[in-house]
Amino acid sequence: MGNMSLEFLNVRLIFVLSMFWVGGVFGKGVKPEGRSLHHRFKNSAVFDVMSFGARADGRTDDSNAFMAAWKEACQSTGRVHITIPKGTYIIGPLKFSGPCLNVSSLTLQVKGYLKATTDLRKYGFGGGWLEFAWLEGLTLTGGGTFDGQGARAWPHNKCPTDSNCKLLPTSLKFVAMNKTVIRGLTSVNSKFFHIALVECHNFKGSRLKISAPETSPNTDGIHIERSSSVYFSLSHIATGDDCISVGQGNSQITITSITCGPGHGISVGSLGKYPDERDVSGLVVKDCTMTGTTNGIRIKTWANSPGNSAATNMTFENIVMNNVTNPIIIDQLYCPFTSCTSKAPSRVKLSDIYFKNIRGTSLSEVAVALECSKGIPCQNIYLEDVHLDLSSGEKQATSSCSNVKAKFSGTQIPPPCT
Ligand SMILES: *[C@@H]1O[C@H](CO)[C@@H](O)[C@H](O)[C@H]1NC(C)=O
Ligand SMILES: *[C@@H]1O[C@H](CO)[C@@H](O)[C@H](O)[C@H]1NC(C)=O
Ligand SMILES: *[C@@H]1O[C@H](CO)[C@@H](O)[C@H](O)[C@H]1NC(C)=O
Ligand SMILES: *[C@@H]1O[C@H](CO)[C@@H](O)[C@H](O)[C@H]1NC(C)=O
Repeated sequence: MGNMSLEFLNVRLIFVLSMFWVGGVFGKGVKPEGRSLHHRFKNSAVFDVMSFGARADGRTDDSNAFMAAWKEACQSTGRVHITIPKGTYIIGPLKFSGPCLNVSSLTLQVKGYLKATTDLRKYGFGGGWLEFAWLEGLTLTGGGTFDGQGARAWPHNKCPTDSNCKLLPTSLKFVAMNKTVIRGLTSVNSKFFHIALVECHNFKGSRLKISAPETSPNTDGIHIERSSSVYFSLSHIATGDDCISVGQGNSQITITSITCGPGHGISVGSLGKYPDERDVSGLVVKDCTMTGTTNGIRIKTWANSPGNSAATNMTFENIVMNNVTNPIIIDQLYCPFTSCTSKAPSRVKLSDIYFKNIRGTSLSEVAVALECSKGIPCQNIYLEDVHLDLSSGEKQATSSCSNVKAKFSGTQIPPPCT
């Protein structure tokens, strides 16, 4: 132990010296020599967690090394690169918080396999395993894997039955971030959501692989809340809850070329649970394939909602449904708990919703269910070219509608309800 801290001190000293030296030669294209905790590469300062004492042995908790690298990187200047080389790292909950005042861009390159600690006492409730907050210009990439090690936590999740449950940690949580890119990453077995965005603006996610067992509770692939200009594409999501859920307060959200299944499909909502929710507008979901999901496209709002909010201008286009239980469903009587008895209408107003070119197979007989609020009927709901057969191939699928006068054009299988 004594030896280790001496070694660490020594490294720190070399680091401080090399800081000056690297700073001095940088620009002349000379590569620094010797042992330093960071070096320059293509005009970026590079911080490698191994230089900060990470072991990557799959047994030692490497949290301190990650935080030390983060601290130096965030206090650095210009373009900054943090690398996590191949290897298996055990890490506890970590918060990568900004602002990093002098940093112009920040790349976190994860090549390794990161495993979340399984000791639940280490996590704050409602937080994340890895939380990124108050940063601008973060790129998270590298082909690595985030393993939430959820199997031991799932039995402790009471949320599917208790509305006052304690939330388990989300694997990757992004809070108040601007100009973020996440690309080429894998998330497996999150304890709760895999990825969550809260108050993020200008966010691009692509080439993500997300998976957890079909039976795992609340393992939503991507949850988005109070965010704008968000774009997710080219990803595979197989999980136990929603593939992607678009919560309250979002605008200009685009989701393209995503495959979902198993899981609960792509959801807007649930909306209207809390009194002060903000509106949802400008959602586009395009070129997606749903296979074996319980829902395809679902818009759900709580019955007996305490506030007034709205969800408007949403387009779902070119969606293939393979063996989906409820391919198109609007449910304004959402109330998942057994203790929930109120049938008071939802006060979330749904309008300007377009379903275009939706085709494939439905596992349940009612392939199109538009159950709108008795208090505030849906307005301007359009279905254009819908072709949904029953998976069994036996008879024709049906539609069901309430409190809505939808407009139909092109192919309509099942036949529209009147
Ligand atoms: C930012 O960098 C400049 C120039 O390198 C330096 O003078 C200044 O102290 C730095 N500011 C902070 C907050 O680190
Ligand atoms: C993000 O952008 C908003 C609006 O320009 C700004 O107010 C906020 O401070 C920015 N946040 C960060 C972390 O840079
Ligand atoms: C509807 O949403 C789309 C996509 O975000 C946007 O481009 C368009 O301007 C919005 N239309 C209206 C009328 O707000
Ligand atoms: C549809 O799902 C059912 C039940 O899950 C399964 O038995 C059947 O093989 C599936 N069909 C196709 C075409 O995937």
